[in-house]
Amino acid sequence: MGAVLSNLLRNQYEAMGLEIGASNLKLVELGGRGPQLRSFAHRPTPPGLFHDGLIAEPGALAEEIRELVKEARTKKRHVVTALANQVAYTRIIKVPRMERKELEEAIRWEAERYIPFPIDEVVLDFDLLDDPEELEEGAEMEVVIAAAKEETVVQLAETLFAAGLEPLVVDLKPFAGIRPLAARLGTRENGEGLLTLYLEVGGESSSLVFLKGDRPLLVRTLAVAGRDFTQAIARAFGMEPEQAEETKKEYALATLSTEDEEALLELDAPKDRPSPAEIYDAIRGILIDFTTEVRRSLEFFKSEFGEESLDQAFVAGGGSKLKGLKGLLSDALGITFSEIDPWEPIKIDTGRFDAGLLQELGPEFVVPVGLALRGVSKLG
Ligand SMILES: Nc1ncnc2c1ncn2[C@@H]1O[C@H](COP(=O)(O)OP(=O)(O)OP(=O)(O)O)[C@@H](O)[C@H]1O
Ligand SMILES: [Mg+2]
Repeated sequence: MGAVLSNLLRNQYEAMGLEIGASNLKLVELGGRGPQLRSFAHRPTPPGLFHDGLIAEPGALAEEIRELVKEARTKKRHVVTALANQVAYTRIIKVPRMERKELEEAIRWEAERYIPFPIDEVVLDFDLLDDPEELEEGAEMEVVIAAAKEETVVQLAETLFAAGLEPLVVDLKPFAGIRPLAARLGTRENGEGLLTLYLEVGGESSSLVFLKGDRPLLVRTLAVAGRDFTQAIARAFGMEPEQAEETKKEYALATLSTEDEEALLELDAPKDRPSPAEIYDAIRGILIDFTTEVRRSLEFFKSEFGEESLDQAFVAGGGSKLKGLKGLLSDALGITFSEIDPWEPIKIDTGRFDAGLLQELGPEFVVPVGLALRGVSKLG
């Protein structure tokens, strides 16, 4: 009897992961032991509905989200979703040791300095990285603060209600993205936490997290993302956005190896589209900006935390699928970047789901899977 009841409750509160992205809407439903993949869906975000992290057309976006839920054929209504990086302010700050209750009072004061608009217009949340019980009197403790304009959060919630959904948690994309990586955030042989760099390249924004073990030390948002490459191609060749997007996915390369150069010399290369060398030329400036931004963050991290080198680095997000990007980053920063497989911690019935398709969509689904993991975490 007890088991039946707890199952009822569990079903009621298991939440799906929903990412409203600038390029794609993505939904993941997990459940049961494992947890298992129950369903997933994705569809492109129509241009003009969601831009710079803000919802421009709430009614139309709600309709798209409804369609997404329909595609997933789920009966669930609760979701864990995330704010866009462009509208979320995330910092890891040090505060004097105090109890959680005290911090609830003090946090607005502490956070005020870090947030670029009036504190009474924001929704503020925080999480302790240290247990005050384990710290000495007078010590400092680290706290993650996250803030967004209240109107931004209200608009997001209203759009979800209009889509027939109920938001349980509004998360942050960088923290969602590291959740599927949990098993890799172990310790070195000497017992110290592995130093990890997580880099997500989305459609309109990118983010970085530096971690020691499973503890986040530094979170940053980067301005360069997938759309910048598409726009550079569109500009260089006078293409429409869709054609530039296709050209990027099919032919763009982040590095030109000798092999590629040989391919360029092929005499029968088609003349109706730009050559790989021309495309490379078009995106070179963006590639330089991007690697420079990542390198600066890495330098800042090293000097701030007194670390010499990282142990591992991972990429996620659709933008990381640009051919050669992992190699370019690895060469530029001197550490191997590997792809994250978000399905690794999930049980998947390969009779129901196409393993190849899941693999292909892995980078885009790191954040939505991370959101879905949070949706089932509390209830085991
Ligand atoms: N094969 C590919 N090569 C290069 N870029 C790709 C490839 N596949 C997808 N992308 C890019 O990935 C981006 C979309 O990725 P993703 O779905 O992670 O973004 P999003 O979540 O919608 O955006 P954001 O999180 O920034 O709001 C687009 O810019 C798209 O062009
Ligand atoms: Mg995204």
